[in-house]
Amino acid sequence: MPSKLAEFEKHWAQRDDPHSFSGVWRFHDLLPFAPRDKCVTVGEGQTLLHQSDGAGKYAGMKLGRLFLQYEGMNPSGSFKDNGMSAAFTHARTVGARRAACASTGNTSASLALYCSVTRLMQAVIFVGSGKIAFGKLSQALDYGALTVQIAGDFDDAMARVQEITKELGIYLVNSVNPFRLEGQKTIMLRVLEALRWETPDWIIVPGGNLGNSSAFGKAFFELKELGLIDRIPRMAVINATGARTLYDLYEEQGVRWNEGKPNLPAVDAYCQDMDATGRRASTIASAIEINRPVNLMKCLRALQWTNGVVRHVSDQEILDAKAQVGAGGMGCEPASAASVAGAKRLVAEGVISPDERVVCILTGHQLKDPKATVAYHTTDQQQFNEVLGSRGVRRAAYANRAVAVANDKDEIIKAIRLYGSNM
Ligand code: F0G
Repeated sequence: MPSKLAEFEKHWAQRDDPHSFSGVWRFHDLLPFAPRDKCVTVGEGQTLLHQSDGAGKYAGMKLGRLFLQYEGMNPSGSFKDNGMSAAFTHARTVGARRAACASTGNTSASLALYCSVTRLMQAVIFVGSGKIAFGKLSQALDYGALTVQIAGDFDDAMARVQEITKELGIYLVNSVNPFRLEGQKTIMLRVLEALRWETPDWIIVPGGNLGNSSAFGKAFFELKELGLIDRIPRMAVINATGARTLYDLYEEQGVRWNEGKPNLPAVDAYCQDMDATGRRASTIASAIEINRPVNLMKCLRALQWTNGVVRHVSDQEILDAKAQVGAGGMGCEPASAASVAGAKRLVAEGVISPDERVVCILTGHQLKDPKATVAYHTTDQQQFNEVLGSRGVRRAAYANRAVAVANDKDEIIKAIRLYGSNM
């Protein structure tokens, strides 16, 4: 076991050893549950931390203080591959033949990819009908997963998958699976590595099922216990306004981990009220359109360890932030942009100071949800209204409009002169 974090770099980039180039397994010393000869990798975690002055300026930060951890560059296009390599490794060690998940799209894309690349298991995925972005659905279908579309939303699919995997003895890879979270801890290790092993001031992460936030808190708690870091960053978890269970419970009702004794009656009452009034999550950020996050308790614990805060941001804020991220070249899907929208809000509130060092996690790739992106940039008011207007989005302040022009050389040249930059 290394005594300094910098020693992990010794494992880096030995291309003949898949366990050294995997962005997860090169931290194997910190993931000792996995037998070394059974670790499954498809090349996950080759992701980078980028300084983003464009998004930083948008959020109100000083130059050089905002960083984006671009997890969209994983093989299946989202951070899920970090956890999937770990859960898959565990599934293999227990001899599983089938693996299942409920998903808003990215977990299922990741599971389907691991199954088809390794041929170790069959993927069975449960998705809410019409609740999953097209890019993600196309992945599951293309990779050959058995795809079960349930007439319901993610929470319905989640309840069913837990019931059915138990009955049929299928290995469950949702983030209720603790090994998923072990793999996702390595996102924080790579962030630390990129910052030359210095702890940032803030980690900002979108909150859906709360697997990431739980894993990040655990990563920092353990590193501190092991004496590998001397301070833990603060964490901000960002909900969508239309899916803000964590925000309501943590910030509005004051529910805390409370040394393992959270106010469970308050949580139950909240969920019962949700059912009684028929309130269902609704946001353009379909990845985090979740009513009952399965990792709520672990996330409360992580918030305690990180002295965390929770905020919610509207679909308008999410899409504006997404356009700013995209303009910087590291495009992301809507849910991911909640982190940058959250940074902006926390800077405006004075909770984050503009010269603190802030890392936002871009959880999923831009191509996951082209419908939302095109609707934001379109000049077609009907398309805008259909996709976004119905969600309360009123303007596309950072839209990059396509220029419509006749099929005529002179007209095209005129348009390029008129609209092009002088770069
Ligand atoms: N961002 C993206 C792109 C996601 O796909 C998810 C979750 C989250 C953020 C939220 O992360 O659950 O760890 O809080 N997607 C899950 C799925 C639910 O099924 O793909 P979390």
